[in-house]
Amino acid sequence: MDLATSSADIESIVVTSEEIQNRINELARLVEKDYVDKNLLVIGILKGAVMTMADFVRALNIHIEMDWMAVTSYGSGTKSSGVVRILKDLDRDITNRHVLIVEDIVDTGLTLSWLKSNLESRGTASVEILTMLRKPEAAKVEVNVKYVGFDIPTEFVVGYGLDFDEKYRNLDFIGVLAKRVYS
Ligand code: PRP
Repeated sequence: MDLATSSADIESIVVTSEEIQNRINELARLVEKDYVDKNLLVIGILKGAVMTMADFVRALNIHIEMDWMAVTSYGSGTKSSGVVRILKDLDRDITNRHVLIVEDIVDTGLTLSWLKSNLESRGTASVEILTMLRKPEAAKVEVNVKYVGFDIPTEFVVGYGLDFDEKYRNLDFIGVLAKRVYS
C-alpha cells in the first residue's frame, strides 16, 4: 500500500514487502529443519509481531501450535527500563515445550532478554527467538537471537507491525518515519 509514501510520511524504505516475504520464506526453511517432530510452540508478542507471526507461520510446512503474549515496560514510557510487565500471559503450561518467540524488532534487547528468561523459568525444553528486525547499534544487553530477518541502522522505523502512536502498523513494508511527523 502507498498510504504513507504518498503522504510523504516515510522518508525512505528500509525493507520492501517483497524482501520481507523472501526472508520469511528463508527463515521458515531454517525453522522447519530445526524443529521437525518437536511439536513447536510459536509465541507472538503483541502487538508489533502480528504481521511477522501471520506470514511466518503460514510459510511453515510443519505442524506447530500458536499462542500470544502482550508485554509492556513497567511504569512510564521508558521502554528501556528492562522491567517488563505481562499484560496478557500464555493460555497454557509450557513445561517441556520447545518455544520460539516471534517479535517484530529487537532494539535495546531488554524486552527479549527478560522474556526469554521468564519463559525459561517455566521449565521449557528450549526457548529461541525469531525477529524480523534487529538494531545492533542500539543493543544494551546481549540477547541470543537465532533467527534474524534484517539488521538495520538505529533509525525510527515503522510499518509491518511497527507503529508510531499506534499508526503505520498496516504498511506492508518497513520505512524510516519522517522526523516532522514525531517532532
Ligand atoms: C517493541 C517490540 C519489542 C520491544 C523491543 O514493542 O515489539 O517488544 O519494543 O524493544 P527493546 O529491545 O528496546 O526492549 P512495543 O513496546 O513498541 O509494543 P508493541 O509491539 O505493542 O508496539
